[in-house]
Amino acid sequence: MERNELKKLLADMSLQEKVDQLVQLAGFFYLNDVESILLGPAKEMGVTEENIQQAGSILGSYGAETLKKIQKEYMEKQPHHIPMMFMLDVIHGMKTVFPAPLAQGAAFDPELSGRCASAAALEAAVSGLHVTFAPMVDLVRDARWGRVMESNGEDPYLTGQLAAAQVRGFQGEDMSAFGKVCACVKHFAGYGAAEAGRDYTGAQVSDRSFQEYYLKAYKEGIDAGAGMVMTSFNTVRDIPASTNVWLMRDVLRGEMGFDGVLISDYGAIMETIAHGYSEDESAAAANGIKAGVDIDMMTNIYAGHLAKLVEDGKIPVELVDESVWRVLELKNKLGLFENPYKDADEEAEKKYILCDEHRALAREAAAKCCVLLENDGILPLDPKSGKKVAFIGPYVNRKQMNSSWAFTGDVEASVTIEAAAKEVFADDKTTYLAGSPVLNPGQMLVGFFDFKPEEITEEQQKEMLAQAVEAAKAADTVVLAIGEHYLQSGEATSRAMLDVPEPQMALLREVAKVNENIVVVLFNGRPLDLREIKATAKAVLEVWLPGTEGGHAIVDVLTGAVNPSGKLSMSFPHCVGQVPVYYNAFTTGRPTIPNVPERFKSKYLDIPNDPLYPFGYGLSYTDFAISPVTLDNAVLTADSEIRAKVTVSNTGSVSGTEVVQLYIQDAFGSVVRPKKELKGFKKITLAAGESQEVEFVIDEPMLRFLRADDTVGSEPGLFRVWVANSSAAGEAVEFELK
Ligand code: GLC
Repeated sequence: MERNELKKLLADMSLQEKVDQLVQLAGFFYLNDVESILLGPAKEMGVTEENIQQAGSILGSYGAETLKKIQKEYMEKQPHHIPMMFMLDVIHGMKTVFPAPLAQGAAFDPELSGRCASAAALEAAVSGLHVTFAPMVDLVRDARWGRVMESNGEDPYLTGQLAAAQVRGFQGEDMSAFGKVCACVKHFAGYGAAEAGRDYTGAQVSDRSFQEYYLKAYKEGIDAGAGMVMTSFNTVRDIPASTNVWLMRDVLRGEMGFDGVLISDYGAIMETIAHGYSEDESAAAANGIKAGVDIDMMTNIYAGHLAKLVEDGKIPVELVDESVWRVLELKNKLGLFENPYKDADEEAEKKYILCDEHRALAREAAAKCCVLLENDGILPLDPKSGKKVAFIGPYVNRKQMNSSWAFTGDVEASVTIEAAAKEVFADDKTTYLAGSPVLNPGQMLVGFFDFKPEEITEEQQKEMLAQAVEAAKAADTVVLAIGEHYLQSGEATSRAMLDVPEPQMALLREVAKVNENIVVVLFNGRPLDLREIKATAKAVLEVWLPGTEGGHAIVDVLTGAVNPSGKLSMSFPHCVGQVPVYYNAFTTGRPTIPNVPERFKSKYLDIPNDPLYPFGYGLSYTDFAISPVTLDNAVLTADSEIRAKVTVSNTGSVSGTEVVQLYIQDAFGSVVRPKKELKGFKKITLAAGESQEVEFVIDEPMLRFLRADDTVGSEPGLFRVWVANSSAAGEAVEFELK
């Protein structure tokens, strides 16, 4: 629709009709008879039949047939026949589920994540959707927080690169194009800094850390053109994000230049009352619209109060018009005025959903996200060696390998480890046993009322264990597939312990008594305390929550069909007491000196300062040698460049891929600076014996930071450079910025 027509449409709308464009309801409001809705959820929520008939968007429903029906009936009743927008959390896959975002961070592969987002967008679009509430780009450092699973990790540069790639993957160059949807960068802002790692608490970070670490990836996603941003549940500077004028108008729209739609998180505007910020619903509505939050998700705060606030002169109608304009503009960008059904098409659903191409991509991605943490040489396994392999653990034959944010995924379509292993290992050389439940029988997960606890008796559990131990005894090698329950990570799943559930650790201990050749395959949505697993197993393969093709990908890696190349996107602590732990921290005035056990140093009495496994770390089946880094100049100026070069050699016996990482430290500054910061990375694949030069260009803009005077810029002085395959590896060389 032409801009002037859109302007005319806005001018023709009644006040309540405008307000209702800013209301998002659940799809089920339109899928049940009006009477039951009005007397049930609508009444409970405080929304009227008019609100329902005029609501600008819905969330939570999908399917071409369903959404076409909703749209048709809605537009017939909508006074100006304005199309509705359909939104859903397609975080890492629609029906074909790709690895969880924390896993995708470990692939260090923006191109791959872009392809996964594009495939997810296609399946979402043909299912009738217009907007996905992804990518989640919250920087994370606290493994207690269950939503680290949805993040790409602890580094601003890596998460920024992936945010931009995912936005482009979801939206393409034109979000109205076939197979594209609008991306929504979330949760703005600083949600990952939730105090004590407990969901929904305040972000206790300094303005400086907020700027230097937490805001950067949102900016990359917005600069990539994200059409929407979602507010976060937490407070920033002790004001709830969803009513935070500084955060939303000064930072998001002012400094970052975001002019798209800002949607609240679920009920987040109303929750500013519980925060003790908005005194009542009317105040919450005024505070939300003043902050420039355009859509109120799933409450009656805007629906029931905005019009009266305007009529009573308490808020100018211009604030409402501004938000309605952004909503209409987004609908226009999606082409909905010309085609309200966009790509919704049952035939296209059959063609694209879970198609071979998407399955192949899911398999490729899941393998590339695997991180080999330990291997004494027991891996890769040779299916033709004639050796007996016992696949043991609750994840051996478990289809649910998706995250809790992949509820649209087709779990039945998943390929399990057992199914994949049977394709390559001889039946008479393998056994497959669960050995234990995921959780203790009867164990509930707080708040998951639809959760079905393991219903096995103590006797059955003992029998499962005994059978597994027998199988382990008879095998040459045990592949132990264990991990968190998929509902132990995601929203509202903070954990104070970072352990693999007890029955599975008991399984590990009993198996280890009869067979020392153990390969642990780890399923988890967060860093865990792996000290006992590290001490017991001969290999540890981190597979995260790998998605639909998890079984194929894992067997591909176990057998060496794919040489693992993943690198940790988040540090793994020794134990929960070490959290938060992250590589780009400050040194402190009393840094510990390796192997010098001094008392008055910044340290723990009971664990090392370094994490058990550092950011950027991951092994391969081959060996890579990275030469000392050379700089083509020891001095950098504002308009020059330095080329940092290494030679990477594959000194092993098989081809492999290495993630070569560039880290820089600003040795002294007007404020203290991190020990090092990731400034670049390159993935290179080398055949056995092959060498390749890898070069990074260092320039002055990459050295800029928020200085003591609150300006952003670089400062002359000494800098150190590492080029290595982990944040904890390599030797530094120095240059000076003049
Ligand atoms: C949830 C989540 C958010 C999600 C939204 C809609 O509470 O915080 O990430 O997009 O509600 O489901």
